[in-house]
Amino acid sequence: MVDKSAEQCYACHAQSAPLEKLNRRDRARDFHDKQGEHLLGVMRPIDNAPECSRSACHVHDAGQRVLGVIDADLSLAPVDQQIAQNQATLKWFLLGAMIFGSVTAVLFMWLVVYRPVKELIDGTHRVAGGDLEYRLPVRSDDELGDLSRSFNRMTAEVAGFNRMTAEVAGVQSKIEEEVRRKTAELERVHKTLLRSEKMASIGKLAATVAHEINNPLFGILTYARLVLRELLKHNLPARDEMAEQLQTIERESKRCGELVKNLLTFSRQAPSHREPNDLNVVVHRAVLLVKHKLEMQNIELTESLAEGLPQVDCDANQIQQVILVLMVNASEAMPKGGKLLVATEFDDAAEQGAVRVKDSGSGIPEDVLPRIFDPFFTTKEDQNRTGLGLAVAHSIVEQHAGEISVRSTPGEGTEFRVALPATAAVTSGAGK
Ligand SMILES: Nc1ncnc2c1ncn2[C@@H]1O[C@H](COP(=O)(O)OP(=O)(O)OP(=O)(O)O)[C@@H](O)[C@H]1O
Ligand SMILES: [Mg+2]
Repeated sequence: MVDKSAEQCYACHAQSAPLEKLNRRDRARDFHDKQGEHLLGVMRPIDNAPECSRSACHVHDAGQRVLGVIDADLSLAPVDQQIAQNQATLKWFLLGAMIFGSVTAVLFMWLVVYRPVKELIDGTHRVAGGDLEYRLPVRSDDELGDLSRSFNRMTAEVAGFNRMTAEVAGVQSKIEEEVRRKTAELERVHKTLLRSEKMASIGKLAATVAHEINNPLFGILTYARLVLRELLKHNLPARDEMAEQLQTIERESKRCGELVKNLLTFSRQAPSHREPNDLNVVVHRAVLLVKHKLEMQNIELTESLAEGLPQVDCDANQIQQVILVLMVNASEAMPKGGKLLVATEFDDAAEQGAVRVKDSGSGIPEDVLPRIFDPFFTTKEDQNRTGLGLAVAHSIVEQHAGEISVRSTPGEGTEFRVALPATAAVTSGAGK
């Protein structure tokens, strides 16, 4: 009896009449048995061969086509295990391949796209930031390489243009500077001319007045001395009182004489004896004259004389007078004491010997500064002031082809600088 529902029988006995021949493919079955084991069933029908029906030991009917079936079940567990192993290997291989592919793709993108684009962006930032010497590395001949080349060309052109602009700006500022310098020079010359004109007319007047006063003044002085001498020979009542009055006449006449001398110097009528002089010696002589007065006034004096100072062509007495004027003015600006520096120096470029007189006094107000060299200008209330000190000093320095300048900060102090041309022979020797 055949169990038609058994899986080995089903293939042939599913129909009402059993199949006489089973396809080769249908003979094998892949199934799980009741225990769940994975099996491969292979069956083969046993055909009724003539020997089977004819031989004496057999009882098979010759008309029966199929005598039975050989059915072998093979376990597929080792095959499944192998397949699972292969699948796992394949999975790892695929994962590795994916990682390798991704890394290669990222590296490729980084090298070929990201890096050149990043360099290009960095380059534009640097150029925008003003670094026009920056050039991009050209690594390839593709579009990015072309872009880098164009970028470098453009940057070089911008740099060239900038250089040209800077050169033009440089030339322009030089021209402007030159124009400014020349304008300042013209203004200075103009001021000097105006001042010279003014001084010339004041000078002429001063000279005339001085000459006119000089003779009678000399007479007054001489007669006052004569009368005084005679008076002292006689024992007259009130002799001493009269003698004192005559001495006053003599003293005041002398003061007038000084004033006349100053006027003559200012008007350039006074004789001047110029010869090569050591500026240090002249300055030191002037310092000795006021040293005591400065000490009395509690003024701390610093005398700084430069070594190897070339000689200057000058009238020593007149230059001494200039330095005296400056030092006396400085002391008058420090009634409660202070510091006074008198220094000599050599200006190599201008070939001038110079004296600086710097005080820590009251300073000169801005509105007063332009007038200090004017004759008869004074801010001092003392009746005996003539306001000729700086005018005479200016005139003397001008006669020596020198320069006198002033810098002052109200409340802090004043510095005067007198510069005189060094003696030509000495200068050329000293300069070498
Ligand atoms: N070192 C200084 N500090 C401050 N002011 C000064 C100084 N030197 C000059 N001055 C100013 O310049 C003015 C002119 O000086 P200048 O020597 O010609 O005349 P003076 O000193 O006033 O009078 P004089 O010298 O005839 O006695 C002074 O009155 C003063 O206002
Ligand atoms: Mg003075």
